[in-house]
Amino acid sequence: MLKLPGLIDPHVHVREPGQTHKEDWDTVTQAALAGGVTMVLAMPNTKPPIFDEATLNLALTSAKQKARCDYAQFLGAGPDNADKVAALADKAAGLKMYLDSTFGELRLDDMTLWMPHFANFPKSAPIVLHSESRTMAAGILFAAIYDRPVHIAHVSLKEEILLIKAAKEKGIKVTCEVCPHHLFLTAESPSPSGRGARGEGESSGRREVRPRLATKEDVEALWQNLDVFDCFATDHAPHTLEEKDSENPPPGFPGLETLLPLLLTAVDDGRLTIDDVIQKSVVNPRKIFNLPEQPETWIEVDETAEYEIKAANQFTRCGWTPFEGWKVKGKVRKVVLRGKTAFEDGKILAEQGYGMNVR
Ligand code: DOR
Ligand code: ZN
Repeated sequence: MLKLPGLIDPHVHVREPGQTHKEDWDTVTQAALAGGVTMVLAMPNTKPPIFDEATLNLALTSAKQKARCDYAQFLGAGPDNADKVAALADKAAGLKMYLDSTFGELRLDDMTLWMPHFANFPKSAPIVLHSESRTMAAGILFAAIYDRPVHIAHVSLKEEILLIKAAKEKGIKVTCEVCPHHLFLTAESPSPSGRGARGEGESSGRREVRPRLATKEDVEALWQNLDVFDCFATDHAPHTLEEKDSENPPPGFPGLETLLPLLLTAVDDGRLTIDDVIQKSVVNPRKIFNLPEQPETWIEVDETAEYEIKAANQFTRCGWTPFEGWKVKGKVRKVVLRGKTAFEDGKILAEQGYGMNVR
């Protein structure tokens, strides 16, 4: 049995308030614990989005009643809430800025709308950017001009990781994360049953995610530059199968329950080390997002357990996984959170409301 610290996932879409048919604070924190994650940072693109005191309280009230693991909630940057969110910084995980189009209403197209947020949000509090390709380059320029840290979410392209590497070498305060789906899937990956990505029988909606799955060359560049990544993050973004298979499929993959098995399988294959997992899923997220240590918290993993990933065994409400049928090695057996066994042998033991707001 391998003993590890509880993992921190800095990028999770909880869907409550507003879309609890996809997920809520109860099911998402069950999925987290089953995946060995003891702390989640929740994204603000809910319905309504979390963008002021009233909406922050809405999310935190549900979280307080239902969360089974520890958490904090991000605020969303809107066109006219820079003063409001800056005043709430202490109560939130940080500020999320959507600079490219994706799921939900929060989006800042015009760079003049970025400026008040960079000027006002406390430098000691995290800013996370959803920014792809050249938008990401603009975001890094903002970090340099305003001389403050930014964290780039879900890096997926070779050009992105090479630019972040160069920015770090220049001393610009930029950190970044990578998601398992961008490390293990490409736009061309065949599905586990051997069908093509958009092949017969598999809805193309199930491949929709933002940033999109990239080319093999991009994926190879991410693996080659693994040392440039500060964190692993799931971007757990549950949508139901009905929605994914519809005419207008929303982008996003669930990921909390597949993160650690996929990473441990990569460790077994010699592509990663256990120390990489600890640094990028515990030590660095704690530092970047100023998170407290969780006392008496650890997970126990059977590194030798081989099995197939199956949506039927998951706790997320969305009912599917892009990794269905994948063979992995490494199973979470037990999770102890603040002295209490929260998960053991497939059963959630932590109660609703046990989770603590770490802010
Ligand atoms: O694929 C995605 N889904 N990317 C995002 O940026 C948002 C997310 C969601 O909320 O569904
Ligand atoms: Zn996201």
